[in-house]
Amino acid sequence: MRSIFFVVLFSGLLSSAHAQTKKPATKAAQPAAAVMERGKTVYTSICLACHQVDGSGVPHLNPPLTPNEWVAGPKPRLVQLVLNGSQGKVEIDGDTWSNAMPAMSHLTDQQIADVLTYVRNSFGNKAAAVTPTEVKAQRGKK
Ligand code: HEC
Repeated sequence: MRSIFFVVLFSGLLSSAHAQTKKPATKAAQPAAAVMERGKTVYTSICLACHQVDGSGVPHLNPPLTPNEWVAGPKPRLVQLVLNGSQGKVEIDGDTWSNAMPAMSHLTDQQIADVLTYVRNSFGNKAAAVTPTEVKAQRGKK
């Protein structure tokens, strides 16, 4: 009898915790569901191969996208990384990665904005959305 009570209590706690995570955040605005969906589509088709489904990366090859100073850092630097690719530039907590990130300037401003917004709000991250205008501003810059 007592164990049933605990099971009920526990599942009640779980569902209320779940409801909490679904509530819109009060501090940083949660990106629109449509943006997150589109970003996830780009992520799954392009980025997942290297950064993995949960953003954990591959040790020594591809860095993780879990909270770090790059993902949450300045948006122009992130946009440049996607536009121009990168090799041997990223260091996180003393770790470096031997693979190269390819340049992906063929993606549209919208696709880059969506995927970066998705990454900045997935895998434990919570950072401001990136807009297509902010991507456009970085094209042609070094
Ligand atoms: C071919 C493998 C590959 C693909 C595909 C790839 N990346 Fe990367 N990514 C890397 C590597 C390797 C680095 C580290 C580059 C360096 O050291 O200069 C990196 C670095 C990063 C970083 C900064 C470091 C960090 O871990 O936070 C971000 C953010 C990132 N990638 C996002 C993306 C996104 C978004 C996509 C898809 C649009 C993508 N990557 C596609 C391999 C890849």
